[in-house]
Amino acid sequence: MDLLISMAILSLFFSCMGVFSLFKLLQRMRMKAYLQDAVVVIMGATSGLGKECAKVFHAAGAKLVLCGRNRKALEELTKDLATQCATKVQTHKPYAVTFDLADPNTIAAATAEILKCFGHVDILVNNAGISYRGAIVDTTGDVDRRVMETNYFGPVALTKALLPSMIERKQGHVVVISSIQGKISIPFRSAYAASKHATQAFFDCLRAEMEQHEIDVTVISPGYIHTNLSLNAITADGSRYGVMDKTTTQGRSPTEVAQDVLAAVGKKKKDVILADLLPFLAIYLRTLTPGLFFSLMASRARKEQKSKDS
Ligand SMILES: NC(=O)c1ccc[n+]([C@@H]2O[C@H](COP(=O)([O-])OP(=O)(O)OC[C@H]3O[C@@H](n4cnc5c(N)ncnc54)[C@H](OP(=O)(O)O)[C@@H]3O)[C@@H](O)[C@H]2O)c1
Repeated sequence: MDLLISMAILSLFFSCMGVFSLFKLLQRMRMKAYLQDAVVVIMGATSGLGKECAKVFHAAGAKLVLCGRNRKALEELTKDLATQCATKVQTHKPYAVTFDLADPNTIAAATAEILKCFGHVDILVNNAGISYRGAIVDTTGDVDRRVMETNYFGPVALTKALLPSMIERKQGHVVVISSIQGKISIPFRSAYAASKHATQAFFDCLRAEMEQHEIDVTVISPGYIHTNLSLNAITADGSRYGVMDKTTTQGRSPTEVAQDVLAAVGKKKKDVILADLLPFLAIYLRTLTPGLFFSLMASRARKEQKSKDS
């Protein structure tokens, strides 16, 4: 009897494993087919996460339009990718489109140029962004607006400009790289956290409104990544912060995060958090016990202020 039960459990276990492996295989095949030849626009492809996303989407066979402000960096990346040896998938020569996302006057012309590259856009990856370090009382309104222009109004304007062509084709996917700071706010990052909270809210609304048009929306919220984000951050008076923060140095490798972004896009996930346990706990704490979360943040603010003053 015992033997019969053990055999039944074993065969049930192996059947489950088989179904799971088959599911994973089908998922991988669907993902591969989705990304092969897809026209993917990557905003902020000149460095960090955007550059790594360009590499992984290119290797997956996507037709890339790489965007950013630094023409030279974009051209170099385009050249590098074009010479990269194809593995098992057919790769394509990327295009580069240079424009400043924080300047609303550039969006219409940039959109026309982007659409001219391959005739349409399948996936838009809103990745460009700047960070900020400073105390609210010292920060000028111009700095608040600069961060919002780059991290919120720019991606919103570009998305709105590309949406009509996606709606017409009844096909499209809008991806946005937000941040854990789009879910919780930490002291001395007000403009950045506000811009990412606004981003999360806007793209959550977009997801609901676009479902009827068969357009997908993916919001990705990473924790710290080892990129130049803190070096490029702006301070309360608008000057460059220029410091590689310890938290950023200890962050995940942008190559790994880019692979997670590719998987989330390929699986058409709706909302993804890419972080360790601590940020997850902080998000739950903010939701379930806000009073405790606010006390912890106030204590963190006091400590940071003290170390700045000393
Ligand atoms: N690093 C982290 O710890 C972390 C954590 C969570 C989320 N994120 C998010 O990840 C995204 C990528 O950041 P990263 O870490 O890769 O930092 P990064 O290395 O500084 O890259 C930022 C990218 O955004 C582009 N960009 C900035 N302002 C722009 C503008 N006005 N117009 C066009 N492009 C602009 C930059 O291009 P140019 O300056 O060459 O024009 C660059 O390609 C950002 O949205 C960031 O908020 C980062």
